[in-house]
Amino acid sequence: MKRYLVILLAFVVAVVFADIKIGVLLPLTGGISAFGEWTKKGIELAREHRPTVLGEKVVLVYADTRSEKTEAANAMARLTDKEKVVAVIGEIASSNSMAAAEIAESRKIPQVAVTSTNPLVTQGKKFVSRVCFIDPLQGTALAEFAANTLKAKKVTIFVDIEQDYSVGLTNYFTERFEGKYRGKVQKVQYKSGDQEFSAQISQAIAFGSDVIMFTGYYNEIALAAQQARAMGYKGYFIAGDGADAPELIKIGGKTVEGLYFTTHYVPEAAKTKKAKDFVESFKKKYGTLPAMNAALGYDAYMLILDAIERAKSKDPVKINNAIRSTKNFEGVSGLITIDENGNAIKPVVIVQVKNGKFTYVTSIEPAQLK
Ligand code: PHE
Repeated sequence: MKRYLVILLAFVVAVVFADIKIGVLLPLTGGISAFGEWTKKGIELAREHRPTVLGEKVVLVYADTRSEKTEAANAMARLTDKEKVVAVIGEIASSNSMAAAEIAESRKIPQVAVTSTNPLVTQGKKFVSRVCFIDPLQGTALAEFAANTLKAKKVTIFVDIEQDYSVGLTNYFTERFEGKYRGKVQKVQYKSGDQEFSAQISQAIAFGSDVIMFTGYYNEIALAAQQARAMGYKGYFIAGDGADAPELIKIGGKTVEGLYFTTHYVPEAAKTKKAKDFVESFKKKYGTLPAMNAALGYDAYMLILDAIERAKSKDPVKINNAIRSTKNFEGVSGLITIDENGNAIKPVVIVQVKNGKFTYVTSIEPAQLK
C-alpha cells in the first residue's frame, strides 16, 4: 500500500510540477565563446520575463558545443535523446548549427538557430528554422555598400576556410561586386584559431586593395586588423555579422576604429516599446548594453514560447509546425516572419565602430537588394 502511495504521489508531483524543457546549444567555451555568452545572457533575461508557458515552468538545459562541429552534434544528441527537450535554441556559427541540424531532423525536434546565416543551415530541412536573415542577402548588402558608399574597386577578402559561413558570404559578396559593379576581388585564406596574418596582409597591400573585407569571426578579425594597420594598410575594413561582438573592440582597440559591418541588430536603433524595454532591462540586469547576440537569443526564446502557446501542445512536431507558421512576431530585433524554408525575413543593419562603440549607420530592407 505504501508503495502505491509513493507512486501516486510521484505521479501527482510530476503532473502538477511538469516542466517544459528547452535545450540551449551554444559555444560557451572555445574560439567564439563570446557569442555564446552574450546569447545566453539574452535567453536568461527572456526566461525571467516569461518563465512559463501552457501553465508549466520552462527549464533551460544548456549544452556547450566548445565552438566546434563534432561537439555540436554530440551536444545536440544529448539534448534530444537524454534530456528529452521539446525544442532547441542554437547554435550561432553556421557550421555548428548544420552539424546539429542532422540530429534535429532525424529526431524530429525543432531547432531554432540564432544567428547562423548560411543558407544550408535550413535548406532541405523540416525541423530547422532561424530568427535571422541569410547570407545571400548579407553578401549583397555588403557589396552594395562597398561599391556605392565606399566607392570600392579592389577588395581583398579574408576567408576562414573552416567556416561555411565565411566561404558562403565571400561568394555572395563576390557575385554581386564583380557581377553588377565589375569590381575586382582577391581572396586570401586562413583558418579559425590562426593568429598571424602577415602573408595575407602583404597580398592585400600588393593588390592595391581599397577595402579589406573579413568574412570570419571577431577574434581573427581583430588580430588581422591590428596587424594590417601595423603593416601600413590605410584602406577601409568591412565585415559581416561575424564581427559583431563587443570583444572585437576589446581585442582590436583603435585598429578596428572605422570598421563597417553588416548585422542583425544594434541597441541604438531600438524603436518600439518592446525593443526599448529590452535594452533597459538588459542594462539593469547586466550593467551593460546588450550585444547583438543577446537580442537574437532573447527573440529565439520568445518565438519558441509563442509557438508552444499557439500549438497548445508539448509535442515537438506540433511546436515545429507552429514555429514554421510564425507571422509578424514582434521581437526585440524587429518583426519576424518565418518563410517556407525556415528563414526569417529581416532587414540588414549596417554598423560602424566609432569612438570605440558600435554605431548605427543604416538599415537595408530585403526588397532594396533585389
Ligand atoms: N552568421 C555567422 C554564421 O552563420 C555567425 C555569427 C552571427 C557570428 C553573428 C557572430 C555574430 O556562422
